[in-house]
Order: sequence, then C-alpha cells, then structure tokens
Amino acid sequence: MKIEFRPEPLAQLSVPTLVAYTFEDAPASSGTVEQLPEETRQQLKELQTAGELTGKPFEFTILRQPAGLAVAKLLVVGAGKREKFTETHLRHLAGAATRHLRSRGGRELAWLLDSNDASAVASVVEGVLVADYDSDSYRTERTAEKGIDTLWLATGGVAAGSDAQAALNSGRILGEAQNFTRTLVNEPSNIMTPTKLAERAAEMAAHLGLECEVLGAEEIQRLKMGAFWAVAQGSQTEPAKLIILRYAPEGAPAEPVIGLIGKGITFDSGGISIKPSENMHEMKTDMAGGATMLGVMQAIAQLKPNVRVTALIPATENMPSGNAFKPGDVITSMSGKTIEILNTDAEGRLVLADALTYAKQLGCTVLIDAATLTGACMVALGNITTGVFGWDKEWVNRVLAAANSAGEKMWQLPVDDDYRDLYKSTIADLANTGGRYGGAITAAMFIGEFAGDTPWVHLDIAGTRWANDEKPYRAKGPTGHGVRTLVQLLTDFAA
Ligand code: BES
Ligand code: MN
Ligand code: ZN
Repeated sequence: MKIEFRPEPLAQLSVPTLVAYTFEDAPASSGTVEQLPEETRQQLKELQTAGELTGKPFEFTILRQPAGLAVAKLLVVGAGKREKFTETHLRHLAGAATRHLRSRGGRELAWLLDSNDASAVASVVEGVLVADYDSDSYRTERTAEKGIDTLWLATGGVAAGSDAQAALNSGRILGEAQNFTRTLVNEPSNIMTPTKLAERAAEMAAHLGLECEVLGAEEIQRLKMGAFWAVAQGSQTEPAKLIILRYAPEGAPAEPVIGLIGKGITFDSGGISIKPSENMHEMKTDMAGGATMLGVMQAIAQLKPNVRVTALIPATENMPSGNAFKPGDVITSMSGKTIEILNTDAEGRLVLADALTYAKQLGCTVLIDAATLTGACMVALGNITTGVFGWDKEWVNRVLAAANSAGEKMWQLPVDDDYRDLYKSTIADLANTGGRYGGAITAAMFIGEFAGDTPWVHLDIAGTRWANDEKPYRAKGPTGHGVRTLVQLLTDFAA
C-alpha cells in the first residue's frame, strides 16, 4: 500500500474520497469535521437536521461534490462519544472507513488528520492496514485484491514533520506485523507445515537482518528434547523444526535477554487421544503462538528497540500414527524431568517445556510464551481476552501494562501451589494433564515448572487468536492478537 502525506490546503485536495470523523454531541462540527470549510459544515448541518448525521459509532454519511472542497466525495464516520474516544477507537474508525470503501470498489482513501497530532498518524496507518486484510486467500475471486492501494494523509495545508513521518513508519510496521501473523495463522496445515513455517521465518529474518537458525529432527533428538520429540514422532511425513530467531542490537545491555517462545503446532489432531471431528479444522491455527512471535520479531527488527530478544518456535504436527506417543507413555524432557502422558492432546505444554529449557540454555533471562494452549481458557475468557499467567509479579505486571496501553484485552488468572497436586503422577515427576477443572491454570503451571527460577509469563491465546465474526474495522478470521502487546512491552522496556 502506498502511504503518503498530502500537504496541500484542504480546499485544493483533489482525491476521490476524503474521510473525516465526528462525535455525537456536535456531529456537524466536531472531530476532524471541525477542520472542514464553513460551506461543507453547512451542508453537514443540514444532514444533521434531517437526522442523517448523528455521529453514532461507525455511522457512515456521504456527501458527493461537497461544497468548498475539490474531492469527489466526503465520507463522515461517526466516532461516538467524545469522552470515550481513545487511540484504539481512532484505529477502528480508520479501519471502518477502509472496509466501507473497499467493499464498494474504492482503491484510494484520503484521511483528514487531526492537526499536529503525530500519534494519530500511526493509529490511522495501522488501522487502515489491519482493516485491509481479508482471510479469503484461496478464493479464486478474492476480495483482498479489491483492497485499498493508496492511503493519503491529508494535513490540511501544513508540511508533515519528521515525527509525523516516524509515526507513519511505526504504524506501517505494526500493521504489517499483525498481518504477517494473521497470514501465517490463516494458512491451512497442508501448506503451513513446520518446514514452510521455518521457511517463512528464515525469509523474513534474511530480509530484515535477523539471525535465524532452524534445527531439524536429528538435532531435536540429539539435544534430548524428549517432550518435544514425543509429540513430533507421530508425524511421519512432516518433519518437526525448531525455529530460532535472534535480535541482538549492537550496544544493547547484555541482560536481560528476552525469550519469546511460541507454540508452533501446525495441526493438532489430538494424536492418539484424537479430537472430535466437528471443529478439528480449526486446529490449523494451533501455531498462532509461533506466528505471534514471528510478527513481533518482524516488528522489532524494524523498530530497533535496544534490548536483546531471542524467539524460539517448536514446530510440529500432532498426529496419530504407528509412531505416535500414547497415553500412559513416560518420557524424559530435556530438563531431565519425567512426564507421564495422560492425554496426547495436551501436546502444547510438552513442546513448550523443552523450548523453555533450551531458551534458558541459550541465555534467555526472561521467558514469555504465547500458546493456543487450552479450551479451558477460551471457556473462561471467550474470544475477547487473553489469559495471562506467571509467578513473577513484576513481569506479569509489565505485560498487563503493555496490553493496556496497546489496547489488547488481557487478564491475569492465578497460579498457586495448591494446584500442583492436580498434575502429579504416580509413576513420573509430572503428568501432562491436570483434569478438567482449572485446566488453563494447570496447563500454564506445567509450563512454569520448566521455567524454574527464571521470570516467566504465559499468554493463553486459544480464544483470541481467531475472530468468529466480522467487525466494521476488521475481517473475520485470524486476529494477530498479542503482537501489539509484546511489541509495546519490548519498546517500552528498552526506552
Ligand atoms: N490446541 C488445543 C487447545 C485449543 C482448543 C486451542 C481450542 C484453540 C481452540 C490444545 O492442544 C488442547 O488440545 N488442549 C486440551 C488439553 C486437555 C487435553 C487437557 C483442551 O483444552 O481440551
Ligand atoms: Mn491438543
Ligand atoms: Zn494444541
């Protein structure tokens, strides 16, 4: 998408569609509508009197050949209540305008900026990019091909300063990172195999100057990753990969090294404890944690925060086969802890256990994992809110604060020693499930056993990885949830 500032005076701006927004309390004269020429606002006043302009959230009002402007069409988007307006709303407004226009064949969008508000530039750019994504990649007649190709940022007669240009870039980086994650999550498992995921990671890394290393089946076994391998061994045709990306800016402090570990199950059939067939197709998205970390790495490679980050993505299918691990099996994890398998469908915690152990061996001093880990978390928090877990108050609070400023909904659920009995085993150190009740907590705590004393935060994105409905500002399908929060965390931390 071409994104450029348009510094000419508003009256001279000649584009197909100019977009402005307005609030409920004064729909003909608030928001960016306030900046429109007197004659235009007079016309809007008439629409307001006729009840056709109210400023209600996501209301679209169109003026063709508006008086006082050279544009073909003015689109006014309702922004709701002024008191409630945040950056998130601004992103959503820009997104809503994008989806409104593209669904009607529009290719160009000119956004009237709030004068001199650089942060608004980032929100608008990001909102448009995120909204311009559609999940219909394999439809022969794609809607995405009818997307927006040009975004003009109308400054209303002033030259855009360097902070506005920087905001444009960061908005683009953040929007593209989320779309990268969404594209990976959306791919079906016959295409997005562990090998393909590793290829996409390596491509991105090479393009942006990140270090990338991909370990194959032999190395995974040689490193004695017994828990990762237990899951991987059942996939006879698609070899497992451990994807490692490193961002180590020159001059960054030696510590912390932040380890981002993403669950990369490219298809979760459940294995021998096979899932019911009804919603099994959704399990192509079980690598969303890994895709989240790839989106984050893509963003920080460009935003360049002064902090070391290593991403690890254990990628494999979870399949039933003659080679598959079985309920009752006892395996030895890389850490030496033995695990009794009670359910082969509780595979995420196994691959993460070894990835966390290896992350520590590689020098990570803080561990953050993201995983589509449990149906139980989805039952608790729905598709709206990510579950946050961890023993380390400071890092949990950092993540929650970052989520809050990023506008992603995340909520802390408890970890507590009293739950540990639930995943005890009579034959081994740990059992890989803790039963139905508190399933999100015992799953998280199982992973935490492998973090040891290293600060660790776990994000359960089982619900938030996917949107089951379309919104005015974004498509149904993969969300990229988590990318904004983690990028915010890393940039805040470095600053
Ligand atoms: N990948 C699933 C969790 C999941 C479910 C993610 C629905 C997204 C949507 C995970 O591997 C799993 O199967 N978890 C089991 C654990 C159980 C066997 C202890 C679950 O939640 O049912
Ligand atoms: Mn599973
Ligand atoms: Zn899974």
